[in-house]
Amino acid sequence: MAKLKKIGVFTSGGDAPGMNAAIRAVTRTAIYYGLHVIGIRHGYEGIINGNFKELKAFNVSDIIQRGGTILKTARSKEFRTPEGRKKAFERLRSAGIDAVVAIGGDGTFAGARQFTEEFDVPFVGIPGTIDNDIYGTDYTIGYDTALNTVVEAIDKIRDTASSHNRLFFVEVMGRDAGFIALRSGIACGAEAILIPEIKNQVSNLKDFLEKGFKRKKSSNIIIVAEGEESGGAFAIAEKVKEDFKDYDVRVTVLGHIQRGGTPSAYDRVTASLFGHAAVQALLDDQQSIMVGMVNGEIAHCTFNKAVKKHKQVDMEKMEIAEILSV
Ligand code: F6P
Repeated sequence: MAKLKKIGVFTSGGDAPGMNAAIRAVTRTAIYYGLHVIGIRHGYEGIINGNFKELKAFNVSDIIQRGGTILKTARSKEFRTPEGRKKAFERLRSAGIDAVVAIGGDGTFAGARQFTEEFDVPFVGIPGTIDNDIYGTDYTIGYDTALNTVVEAIDKIRDTASSHNRLFFVEVMGRDAGFIALRSGIACGAEAILIPEIKNQVSNLKDFLEKGFKRKKSSNIIIVAEGEESGGAFAIAEKVKEDFKDYDVRVTVLGHIQRGGTPSAYDRVTASLFGHAAVQALLDDQQSIMVGMVNGEIAHCTFNKAVKKHKQVDMEKMEIAEILSV
């Protein structure tokens, strides 16, 4: 690759707390190594529309502690078309952007993989999604903060659940994966956890509730990942109500509060290390890879693997959560 002079950075897909810390780290590392940095607004849409602005070190001051993303984010339909990607390439070329850092989830990396197969522009990815569902990294930016938000909310729900002797179904995010549900379930001492990766959980749940009912267990918190096969917390609550007419059932959907807020220290540090590692990877002539964290160390994974392979939920932890809820 010709000598790197100017890199672009953007965020894409669902926002996640810590994305700003990553933007800051990419910008400052690149400037430290003598590169120009272009902030691309609104994800892939911003590349197609040439929504570019140079970022200097001061443009990323005072953002490490802020949730959301100063570069805005979007899910682009146009970038999924060959015409959209061609426009994006021309925009990058006319702006003199030699390489790009993409911060986002699997949809972001699927787009980057496709684009880099068609055009000779190096891309390096940084995993940013509260779902933590990306293969090739133990953690994604935003997951830790989202977990803490969920735990704080469920602790509050627990107070009212036990005061009123109620059965609460709490729905957490995770369209395709149960990472938030499982870990927050362990942290909150949930009575049961329902995730997309395990099928036919409702009959087991009914058995479990039956046993609790017999020994006069007065309140329960059941965590449901939104992608669970029955269709989420409301659907499961309806099914359970059919058999447990005496239970006072309530449903809470935590929704987008899980995506916002001040990033935790863990997310800020991880995002900073990822941002630094992404620029370093471009300087080392790497491309079409995502940086990540494996066993506490920075690791690299090709976009191909990150997109194609499925990160598995730790079933041993599911069993432990069950044991702890007897
Ligand atoms: O991918 C992150 C995520 O938060 C999912 O858990 C959730 O299903 C989805 O985004 C919600 O997306 P939107 O903000 O577009 O409704």
